[in-house]
Amino acid sequence: MTENPGFVLWFTGLSGAGKTTLAVALERELRERGVRVERLDGDTVRESLTADLGFSKEDRDKNIQRVTFVAKLLSRNNVGVLASFISPYAETRDYVRSQVTNFIEIFVDAPLEVCADRDVKGLYAKAFAGEIENFTGVSDPYEPPQNPDIHIRTDQQTVEESLQSILTWLEEHNLIPERVTL
Ligand code: ADX
Repeated sequence: MTENPGFVLWFTGLSGAGKTTLAVALERELRERGVRVERLDGDTVRESLTADLGFSKEDRDKNIQRVTFVAKLLSRNNVGVLASFISPYAETRDYVRSQVTNFIEIFVDAPLEVCADRDVKGLYAKAFAGEIENFTGVSDPYEPPQNPDIHIRTDQQTVEESLQSILTWLEEHNLIPERVTL
């Protein structure tokens, strides 16, 4: 297997913006290129490592702090980590950057209206009806990255286009090998 440096691709954005979709597609492509990767996702991590936490600022910060610990261990051992978490607070994301190896902030950006229209999990409808408290973008803040390493507009780009721009960025920064075509 090719030895590549560790890194943490940090997908931040509203619920339904497309963080998981991109991370899953990227995971597949990176594995095909022989890159050792691990994917951490808000919805699954919150069923195990952080199952005790809710969505207050304090709990969201704890959620990210625990994930950061895992990402730190993996990235310093040459694993590429794909982390998709809303992570609404800029200061908390800066904390992740300070802790892990090769932090790359990817802003998965789509307007709230678009995410709410997609409403993949039916949560926006509930949030607008007042059935879910502290829902990001509706009744809880989201601080967009001011200077992300990569800015993806999922309302304007196809998944393939978004994927390509991330792969190109990683290749240009010598974090992954180029695809070998036989
Ligand atoms: S974070 O803010 O702590 O980074 P995380 O990404 O782990 O959030 O979890 C977000 C997921 O939890 C959403 O995709 C959604 O499925 C679910 N969820 C449930 N309640 C909320 C809420 N109040 N705000 C945001 N997401 C919620």
